Amino acid sequence: MSKKPIIVFEGIEGSGKSHHINKVSRFLDKNKIKFIKIREPGGNLNSEKIRRLILNKKSNFNKTTDLLLYLAARSENINLIKKAYKKKIILIDRFIDSTIAYQHYGLGVDLKIINIINKFLLKNIKVNFTFLNVVNKKNLFQRLKKRKSLNRYDQFDRSFYYKVQKGFLKLAKSNMKSYKIIDSNLDIKKNEDLIIKQIKKLIQ
Ligand code: TMP
Repeated sequence: MSKKPIIVFEGIEGSGKSHHINKVSRFLDKNKIKFIKIREPGGNLNSEKIRRLILNKKSNFNKTTDLLLYLAARSENINLIKKAYKKKIILIDRFIDSTIAYQHYGLGVDLKIINIINKFLLKNIKVNFTFLNVVNKKNLFQRLKKRKSLNRYDQFDRSFYYKVQKGFLKLAKSNMKSYKIIDSNLDIKKNEDLIIKQIKKLIQ
């Protein structure tokens, strides 16, 4: 594996993925290791514009439009990724697994079309490792309630997120070598240590 891997953080709302990606960024900064960090949807200026459009509570696109907008945001991001690919570590807060988990497993969009467009966008770019953060039903409910600014994708019912999480787990289980499942119901500090330990293995 490249010592400048693409490392993705995935998980449903309230699963702690953004907390952990920020911890990893701080660790890399502290050790003066070069990296870029992006989020999806979002990343560059244009992708952030698309993000605002998709997640605005006043938007009411259908699920196919949503898919195409998520992929449009990715298309704008891909140049950032290409530029850094194998030159710097690339940390991504959500990537292709989110599209499969939310749009296919959650909303029922045809998987074939998602795979075709992802392949078209990514070409030879490959994700090296994914941390999948999972959360149980009780904690998910409490964390969703605590979130301050709700966006359009924060407003599904609990069973939707559970369906999405099952989708994520299916993806992880089909390729366990390049996934680590982080149980976010456990001690957060222990999980931070676990992740940093794995990061060191991936980059050294
Ligand atoms: P965030 O809360 O992690 O910033 O993500 C925004 C929302 O976008 C989240 O509910 C997951 C959703 N999403 C998709 O539905 N499909 C995708 O391809 C991506 C990247 C995100």
